[in-house]
Amino acid sequence: MKIKVLGSAAVGGFPQWNCGCPNCRGVRGGELKARARTQESIAVSADGDNWFVLNASPEIRTQIEGFAGLHPRGPRDSPIAGILITNGDLDHCLGLLSLRESHPLQIYATEQVHRGFTESNTFYATLERFPGQTTWRTLQLGKEQELKYLDGRTSGLDVQALAVPGQPPLHLRGRFAPDPEDNVAFRIRDRATGRAMIYMSGVAAVTPAVLAAIEGTQCVFFDGTFWAADELIALGLGNKRAEDMAHLPIGGADGSLALLENIKVPRRYYIHINNTNPILREDAAEHAAVEAAGWRVAYDGLEFEL
Ligand code: MLT
Ligand code: MN
Ligand code: ZN
Repeated sequence: MKIKVLGSAAVGGFPQWNCGCPNCRGVRGGELKARARTQESIAVSADGDNWFVLNASPEIRTQIEGFAGLHPRGPRDSPIAGILITNGDLDHCLGLLSLRESHPLQIYATEQVHRGFTESNTFYATLERFPGQTTWRTLQLGKEQELKYLDGRTSGLDVQALAVPGQPPLHLRGRFAPDPEDNVAFRIRDRATGRAMIYMSGVAAVTPAVLAAIEGTQCVFFDGTFWAADELIALGLGNKRAEDMAHLPIGGADGSLALLENIKVPRRYYIHINNTNPILREDAAEHAAVEAAGWRVAYDGLEFEL
């Protein structure tokens, strides 16, 4: 399985347009040992020709242009065979509306995420301008299913959507009751090699189910939003703690680095990194701590074969 990181930042990207925090100022000014990042999304492929994109970032157009593997091979064409959505957060869905240039789209999501995006959404009509413009494939929790091309051919990849602790998107609070289908991880397995990766970009807690989902994979992408629970408060940027936003911090005795210390996965990446996170600075102690524990900080353009 080929894996390409298209974007690795949390909502807002890095730097964020309205943020003057030390990280954002530093990367803008070129004074930091840090790379700019777009909002989180990765592409996976069994054959290197047809790709499934995990999460449709608001920056999807730039991300497609930045990766030759996603460029059209004909007058009207896209190597994007399908898009998988982990949750209804706008940093994961807004990009769908940018793909409205009359191209048939195939979207894999739970029924809850599907409803959250389409119900009462007047903008969604732009993806239903002709029959067959958008085909939704329902993901049932826990069920392994084949990722297919729109014409029904197999891609050689299987996916399992697994419920992970999270919360409904902010704009649906009060409209939709919280549901286990709100926030999922994708476990994707290559049929030919048997190798699997797990994509968990939003995780509020490490539970036995989270550990079970990671078990047996060769690659994990995990929620790297915050280093510390009070990161936004300490920088004077807001009053929310990481747990209020359903993101488990990396650092500390009950952070993900400690709680995932014993997982036996050779490739481990933090992704969905908020612009305030000190791991973005390649010379920071927190960055070194992550690497010393065998993790890497995902960055835009990272590419490897699993
Ligand atoms: C999150 O990751 O918590 C959300 O993307 C936040 C948001 O949608 O503003
Ligand atoms: Mn987000
Ligand atoms: Zn910032």
